[in-house]
Amino acid sequence: AWGMSVSDEELVHLAIEARDHAYVPYSHFSVGAALLTSGGTVYQGCNIENAAYTPSNCAERTAFFKAVYEGERSFSAIAVVGGAEGQAISDWCAPCGVCRQVMREFCDPDHFCIILARSEHEYRSTLLREILPESFGPDTLERAETTTTHSGEEG
Ligand code: THU
Repeated sequence: AWGMSVSDEELVHLAIEARDHAYVPYSHFSVGAALLTSGGTVYQGCNIENAAYTPSNCAERTAFFKAVYEGERSFSAIAVVGGAEGQAISDWCAPCGVCRQVMREFCDPDHFCIILARSEHEYRSTLLREILPESFGPDTLERAETTTTHSGEEG
């Protein structure tokens, strides 16, 4: 647990560390993520693959699901790094579409930062809005509910 605010550089470092936990016997592509809550706690995640392939879980979702299980609902940033297993990162690794949608469930697209790194000291950050424009989220359903006329059973 972290009491002080965590810098982007520290979050990248924690994502690189998390990558060592990846279980990737099929793709041999290991990914690490470090998710920062609004309260300053960091949850790390790695990708976890499966012989049946589709049950595989990305690093970002591992971090989110760990955090949500622990009761966290407010997040400020996630650092993501990925590359060939056993090798240092050397290229950007952007979150997949499914992970972007999972972020959208819990994060404000205008404020949640995605930090990508291609080396320990080379990183850049973007907003969820930028990588998931015109998104569908919990508020979409809430708006539909409040605009629906509730006049008893239909038909
Ligand atoms: N993967 C992640 O964990 N996060 C990403 O952002 C991209 C892809 C994983 C899924 C799979 O285990 C491996 O990387 C190759 O696609």
